[in-house]
Amino acid sequence: MYGKKILATVIAGELKGDLSYQEVEALIEVPKLDTHGDLSFPCFSLAKVYQSPPQKLAQQLADKLSHPLFAHVEATGGYVNIKINRVMGSKEILKNMIAGGPDYGNQQKNGHITIDLSSPNIAKPFAMGHLRSTVIGNSIGLLAEKLGYQVTRINHIGDWGTQFGKLLYAYTKWGDEQSVKQNPIQELFRLYVQFHDEAAKHPELDEEGRAWFKKLEMGDPKALDLWQWFRDESLKDFKTIYNRIHVDFDSYDGEAFYNDKMERVIKLLKEKNLLEESEGAMVVQLDEYDLPPCLIQKSEGTSLYATRDLAAAIYRKETYNFDASLYVVGREQTIHFQQLKAVLAKMGYGWAEDIVHVPFGMILKDGKKMSTRKGKVILLQDVLDEVNLLVAEQMDAKNPALKDKEAIKQQIGAGAVIFHDLKNHRLHDVEFSIEQMTSFEGETGPYLQYSHVRACSILEKVKENPTLWIQGLEDDESWKVLKQLAAFPAIVEKAYNEKAPSIMADYLLKLAQAFNRLYGKVKVIDHKEYLPVVFGVQNVLREGLRLLGIQAPAKM
Ligand code: ARG
Repeated sequence: MYGKKILATVIAGELKGDLSYQEVEALIEVPKLDTHGDLSFPCFSLAKVYQSPPQKLAQQLADKLSHPLFAHVEATGGYVNIKINRVMGSKEILKNMIAGGPDYGNQQKNGHITIDLSSPNIAKPFAMGHLRSTVIGNSIGLLAEKLGYQVTRINHIGDWGTQFGKLLYAYTKWGDEQSVKQNPIQELFRLYVQFHDEAAKHPELDEEGRAWFKKLEMGDPKALDLWQWFRDESLKDFKTIYNRIHVDFDSYDGEAFYNDKMERVIKLLKEKNLLEESEGAMVVQLDEYDLPPCLIQKSEGTSLYATRDLAAAIYRKETYNFDASLYVVGREQTIHFQQLKAVLAKMGYGWAEDIVHVPFGMILKDGKKMSTRKGKVILLQDVLDEVNLLVAEQMDAKNPALKDKEAIKQQIGAGAVIFHDLKNHRLHDVEFSIEQMTSFEGETGPYLQYSHVRACSILEKVKENPTLWIQGLEDDESWKVLKQLAAFPAIVEKAYNEKAPSIMADYLLKLAQAFNRLYGKVKVIDHKEYLPVVFGVQNVLREGLRLLGIQAPAKM
């Protein structure tokens, strides 16, 4: 909201302390109708303070407000509406933004944030569900870095647990080395699915699986060798996907990494008298939190997902001394993270409150949940291949002579997939649609990338220093774009605070739409006073896309 701070200062001054600056600022809004102006101050809270009708107060306040930045002040229905002086406003917005360059919107906050993201399970294909965690977590990390925080991205690979017992059993029973070597993930997944099919008919197989996991936890060399091999093959496969969507991690310490760190956790829990026996297993009771007991050790002595997460949380605090520890993990694990926090709090760790679960909804296909167990799963690899094909067709038609086509196609394909996810609020379920992803129009990644290319090509044609052309701009189309540009720093902050990249995605769509309307109206080549606006749009689109983890090529 450009001009908000000035308006808040002027109003707070007039009210002589009856409302504080902060109270006034929090009340200021954008009028519903464009014709009502740029900013609006509702007088309903004031009416309570002064025991006087809001209409009257709005009129009194409107008569007194004056500042060079306000072109027009008017009272309507209990609101004071303000139109900004566009000549003054546009020059200031453009100067600010051009001076900032790619750093426009940066802040220097202090603190270390760890983000647990992606965290797929080995020996299973990387499915669309893990994509959500990867792209949401990556964007939250980029937003945090823009605000000045130090960020550590941790891929808590699911490489331990009873499912590996099942897999080891299945491999020794039905698998062979040759097939795994040829097609590791697919073959391991096939064995996993086969185990579940067989176990449905022969429940005693679950016992076999548990026994193999016990062997693994006891360090049996054959079990460990196989496990290591499965892990290596899976990671190789995951890394090719991460390269395709340009995501990097600082650590791949997965669940197995905490094997030698759990004994200490159990010892601490015992010392603090928190561990209780329940039906042969060891648990921490969480009645006072209205939560089910947290299972720490099974009756056969093997560890659990929660035990490994406890060890991981403590390890992260000791290693990174985080100020916040985020876990970008599906909504279905909400109770698990509530339990994790509660147990840490019971252990006396004040930092338990810095543990933040960032949940998200499911990916649906035709309105239904996708499940790995039954083998009905959409593979990210296949999606990326298909998306690239569709993108390539459109690009070949639009711009057959494009140089560096292969690299750019990859960028557009990845952008299509990432944006399709991030444009939805993370808590919403996402309906999976390749057609929607790859359209070059509407609310898509390629549409934004294309708008950026448009801005780039204008700047390339005109070849002049935009700073020299800064002038006051008064037309409606430019003003809409300028107001959007001015909002960028606040959007970065809001998107991070709410851990919601969709706020940035929405914002970029509105910016691109406003820019494309302006582009349809004026010929920048003949009206160079618009050059700084185009420059600003290029800058903010590129930076905004970067914050979503999407690249913005200059041509496409
Ligand atoms: N591997 C788990 C899954 O696929 C997600 C792990 C999330 N991170 C954690 N620290 N628990 O469900």
